[in-house]
Amino acid sequence: MSEWGDGTRCVRAGLPEPAPGDPFLPGPVFAAPYHLDPFAGQGTSPNGYGRPDNPTRRLLEAAVGELEGGDCRVFATGQAAITGLLLTLLRPGDTVVLPTDGYFPVRAFATDVLEGIGVRVLFAPTVGPYPSFEGVRLVLVETPANPGLDVVDVAALAERAHAAGALFAVDNTTATPLGQRPLDLGADLVVASGTKALTGHSDLLLGYLASRSAELIDAVTTWRTTTGAVPGAFDAWLAHRSLATLDLRLARQSANAAAVVDLLAGRPDVTGLRWPGRPDDPAYAVASAQMRRIPGVLSFDLGDADRVGRFVEAARLVAAATSFGGLHTTADRRAQWGDDTAPGFVRLSCGAEDTADLVADIAAALDAAGPL
Ligand SMILES: Cc1ncc(COP(=O)(O)O)c(C=O)c1O
Repeated sequence: MSEWGDGTRCVRAGLPEPAPGDPFLPGPVFAAPYHLDPFAGQGTSPNGYGRPDNPTRRLLEAAVGELEGGDCRVFATGQAAITGLLLTLLRPGDTVVLPTDGYFPVRAFATDVLEGIGVRVLFAPTVGPYPSFEGVRLVLVETPANPGLDVVDVAALAERAHAAGALFAVDNTTATPLGQRPLDLGADLVVASGTKALTGHSDLLLGYLASRSAELIDAVTTWRTTTGAVPGAFDAWLAHRSLATLDLRLARQSANAAAVVDLLAGRPDVTGLRWPGRPDDPAYAVASAQMRRIPGVLSFDLGDADRVGRFVEAARLVAAATSFGGLHTTADRRAQWGDDTAPGFVRLSCGAEDTADLVADIAAALDAAGPL
């Protein structure tokens, strides 16, 4: 598997051995209970009850695990995976380090729930400075961070965390396992939303966690089984089906982002342009050293909320929508959700449209939006 290129790995990921008469990817298995052996009960089959066991889910876990390079457990959403990780590992009196500039519901969960049960929460910007990790149980980073797109050196920070006895986890949502493999870079755990580019069709919610530690995977599996935050069989199957085209989708999204960045960099009516693949971006050096490819997500400032509205309204190929990583180009004015961003700050997620069409559409829409 590992000697193959990304396209081959995605197309083959998690597929069962070929058997005459069988489909390439078996269809979804819809079951709450399964037939049990009347005498032996559970244990004669991996399928006993749908919350802990589902064969469609297991195939998806095999696929994502192959791509991340560890064992994987999928969850109903990215938030279910992240909060599951935090609540599995953290106990009253523990300390956790979280990003100030990452996905904001994680911060809200930390202050609303974790602090409420006696967990000490320290926040640090993705680019640092980081506090001392002495006495810290878990360091969770998000790189590239959403929505500001700062990047941190995963290997260096993992080493610091381990030297202090802390566990180190990376939110790999924006990069996807084709963009970077945090477990190879020294992380103990990967968490991510599979709702975004991983599955990429804007039609399902998914989360996952991956690790090479059987102990951590066991603990997380117990958490998931007892809290029940599992995806249904149909979503798991759709996700697996979508994974096969991840390489193709990311290639087009990234090429589109590069072209859009070239356009925006030359426009005086656009400020604060960020994309880790742009040579003069502050994240470029670390991103190019650590990432295998750069995602199709960029950000910039259009001055105020009204100008963002005029831009999106004028664009034919840019939809106003939150989330990112899908086939359709979307723009999200993050301040409307409570992110600590300027009123005109836009996260643009490039889709899989033709590059020339997208660039022309965005240029025309900016013209239509009027001057800064
Ligand atoms: C970086 C990051 N992590 C986690 C999540 C949560 O994922 P979900 O919406 O699937 O719960 C998101 C969602 O936007 C995200 O951007």
